Amino acid sequence: MPVVISFVSTKGGVGKTTVAANLGGLLAAFGLKVLAIDADVQPSLSKFFPVHYRSSQGLTAVVTSGGNPSADCISRTIFSNLDLVYSDTPDAALQAWLNRREDRLMILRRAMRSPLVDPYDVVLIDTQGAVGELQKSAAMAADVMVSPVRPDALSAGEFATGTIAMLDELDRLADFGESFRSGDLLALINAHERTTNARALAAVLRQRFSEHSKVHVLDTIIPSAAAYAAAATARVPVHDFDRRQRFENSAWNVMHRLAWELFPSLANVYAGAPPCSTGDTGTGGIRQGAVA
Ligand SMILES: Nc1ncnc2c1ncn2[C@@H]1O[C@H](COP(=O)(O)OP(=O)(O)OP(=O)(O)O)[C@@H](O)[C@H]1O
Ligand SMILES: [Mg+2]
Repeated sequence: MPVVISFVSTKGGVGKTTVAANLGGLLAAFGLKVLAIDADVQPSLSKFFPVHYRSSQGLTAVVTSGGNPSADCISRTIFSNLDLVYSDTPDAALQAWLNRREDRLMILRRAMRSPLVDPYDVVLIDTQGAVGELQKSAAMAADVMVSPVRPDALSAGEFATGTIAMLDELDRLADFGESFRSGDLLALINAHERTTNARALAAVLRQRFSEHSKVHVLDTIIPSAAAYAAAATARVPVHDFDRRQRFENSAWNVMHRLAWELFPSLANVYAGAPPCSTGDTGTGGIRQGAVA
């Protein structure tokens, strides 16, 4: 069965789509078979990378099939091993459809066990930065949730209240039985500026959740860098856009560190090119496996 990671936050603009797309691009370059699902009603993951085969249907068919789609729902990006379920629900119709279903929170989890998804090693589900049934269904489908947090007061505050409240709500479902248990939530500090304020907020976040049983703050920090927007404009994975292996915080190194932290079994696997001879792309700072 694939490892499923959902990107969730109740705040918009924190980097969910950016991280989901670029992690997908890197894992696919490692040779893993990756399915990216755009579960945001405002599609942006759907447009992130060029597609060379567009399926006749997308997310709506996956959801309204009750999680067992038989239709042609999977598009192929131009990158090997990286496939896509695009978002095709521009209005509130899908959220409304879900609202009428008693099993709404389990529908995407069911889809993760369907023959459609079975061939994949990793599934990455991107969601909208707001509260809703589709986001909760995506969260329940995940082995682990990743929640990017910008180290500014608004973003960190929303994470500590809104996103954690959503997690707590999902956690209460476990009272109905083990099969309703949600995964852990990994906070990922994203767009970190080299300022005292950002450093202080990152430290507060770590301190605040150090004892939390289901929330962990990842060691990897994604700096604020122009490469992330520029790579999105060029529609290429950012590790391929900024390949400076000697620069510790290049997108190449940062994205490798993130992938290795999430999947320790991939430590020292590189996206095609070997590391530079100085070895400055090593695994320093990576502690233990967050996902597998
Ligand atoms: N590490 C980073 N450094 C600089 N810019 C970044 C970084 N991460 C994301 N961005 C930029 O921030 C903006 C918002 O990112 P993104 O769209 O990924 O957020 P999101 O959480 O998916 O938003 P939404 O909730 O609206 O879907 C984009 O313009 C993106 O290029
Ligand atoms: Mg997004």
